[in-house]
Amino acid sequence: MENLKILINEEKIQNRIKEIAEQIEKDYIGKDIVLICILKGSTFFTVDLAKRINKNIKIEFIQVSSYGASKIGSENIELKLDLKESIEDKDVIIVEDIIDTGRTLSYLIEHLKERKPKTLKLCTLLDKPERRIYDVKVNYVGFEIPDKFVVGYGLDFNELYRNLPYIAYIEE
Ligand code: IMP
Ligand code: MG
Repeated sequence: MENLKILINEEKIQNRIKEIAEQIEKDYIGKDIVLICILKGSTFFTVDLAKRINKNIKIEFIQVSSYGASKIGSENIELKLDLKESIEDKDVIIVEDIIDTGRTLSYLIEHLKERKPKTLKLCTLLDKPERRIYDVKVNYVGFEIPDKFVVGYGLDFNELYRNLPYIAYIEE
């Protein structure tokens, strides 16, 4: 772990989450929310965000795996775990760890729209705008980051480093 450099420390992450939660509260006055956590990466973010949102929320989980990451197209995305509850007519926010090319999310948005939610918004902790190939509209962004591979706070490299309380990049 010695070649890890901290990009966003724990305090900054938590302060930003508090701000996003406040914004969500303002945007959803009088409404209940369903947060959809995308396994596994966005678990840490979803939990901390949910604790800060002072209203009725439900949390659901979905898992996708993208293989052949260099390939383009949703045919390379596999739905590994689907929602267990209906989101029809609900105000739904997808909670993601990071948007890179946008491929995973453009697939998921299409998939979830078929379930006829009343509204569907997107919240991501990290965004790498330079890498975008698929046009996805993001409603809440924690931090825009440069084109570096990052780990920690849910994000992994070969399933490791998810438990770091900060976001770090691997120095070559
Ligand atoms: P996209 O489909 O290209 O937007 O990629 C999104 C997925 O790739 C995320 O949900 C992450 O699982 C993974 N990913 C993209 N960039 C990184 C990174 O820097 N570190 C760890 N995982 C990443
Ligand atoms: Mg992931």
